[in-house]
Amino acid sequence: MTDFRAMPKVELHLHLEGAAPPEFIRTLAAEQGVDLSGVFDEAGAYKWSNFVEFLGVYEAACEVLRGPEEFKRLMKAVLAAQAAHGVLYTEHFLASDLCGDGSAVAWGEYLAAMDEGAQEALAEHGIEVRFIPTCIRHFGADKAEHAARLAAQTAGGRVTGFGMGGNESHLMPADFARAFEIAGDAGLGLTCHAGEIEGPQMVNATLDALNVTRIGHGVRSIEDPATVARLVREGIVLEVNPGSNISLSVFPDWASHPLTKLKDAGVKVTISTDDPPYFHTDMTREYDMAERHLGWDAAALRAQNAVAMDAAYCDEETRTRIKDRL
Ligand code: ADE
Ligand code: ZN
Repeated sequence: MTDFRAMPKVELHLHLEGAAPPEFIRTLAAEQGVDLSGVFDEAGAYKWSNFVEFLGVYEAACEVLRGPEEFKRLMKAVLAAQAAHGVLYTEHFLASDLCGDGSAVAWGEYLAAMDEGAQEALAEHGIEVRFIPTCIRHFGADKAEHAARLAAQTAGGRVTGFGMGGNESHLMPADFARAFEIAGDAGLGLTCHAGEIEGPQMVNATLDALNVTRIGHGVRSIEDPATVARLVREGIVLEVNPGSNISLSVFPDWASHPLTKLKDAGVKVTISTDDPPYFHTDMTREYDMAERHLGWDAAALRAQNAVAMDAAYCDEETRTRIKDRL
C-alpha cells in the first residue's frame, strides 16, 4: 500500500457546510443552547440512512452556522483539515441560502468573513481555495436565480464559479437555465450535480440546458454508452466522490464503482470527498481505496490531479503555480 497522505492533491468538489465535523456543530449548538440531538447517533456521528435523510440532517446541522464568524471558523477548520491530507488547491461549494437572511448585505458579510478565513489558512497552511456559490435544487428556481445574482454581484477574487447541489430528483435542469445564464454572464465557471441519484438522462438534460464545463458526480453516466461518449466528446470533467457514492448506496461497494471504467473510456475524472464527515472519509482514504479496490497507482492519481487543476476555476497564474507543485 502506498502512503498517500503527503501526496500533493487537488480537491474540486467539497461543500463547506457538509465538511463541518460533528464536534464543530456540537460545539456551536452548545454555545447557542440549541438541541441537535436528532442529528447525531450514539457514537456522535451524523445520523441518516438515505439521500433524503442525509439532506435533512445536513440542513438541520447548518442551523447553528448562524453568523459570519461561524463560517470563518468553519472555513479555517476545513482548510486546515484538507491541508493535513496534502490538498494544495481546493474549491468550496458555499450555499448562499444558508448564509443569514439570504440578502445581498448578509451574503457580503459572510463572504468577507470566509475570505478572511481563507487568507489566514493560506498563510498558515499554504492551501489555496476558490469559492463556488451554490444554489439548492429543492429550494426551487426562484431561489436559484437569487443565488446566481448574489454570485454574479460578488464575482472576482475568490468567487470564481457557480453550482447547484440538493435533491437531483426535484425539477429539471432547464428550470435553472436562467440562474446559470446569470452566473455564466458574470464570467463564473459552471458546474452542476447530476447523475448521482438520477441516471444518464439527467446528465444529458444538464448538458443540454446549462452551459457547464464540469458535472458533480456524473457517475451514473456509465449506464449509457452514448452519454459516456458525449462526456468524452465535449471534454466534460466529472467531479467524482467515490466514498460519498458508496456511503449513499449509489453503488453497493467499492469494487462496483465505475471510476476506472469512466477513465478508461476517456472521460476526464477527478477525485474529491463531497462532505467528508458525513461519509467518514478524507482525501487520503479516497486515494487508499482507489488503489486498493479500483486499481489506481500513484502515477494515475497524480495524473488525475493535473486533470483537476486544468478544470479548476482559477486564473492561469494560479493554475501554473499549483501544477508545478503537483
Ligand atoms: N449537497 C451536499 N452534498 C450533496 C450531494 N452528495 N448531492 C447533492 N447535494 C449535496
Ligand atoms: Zn456534492
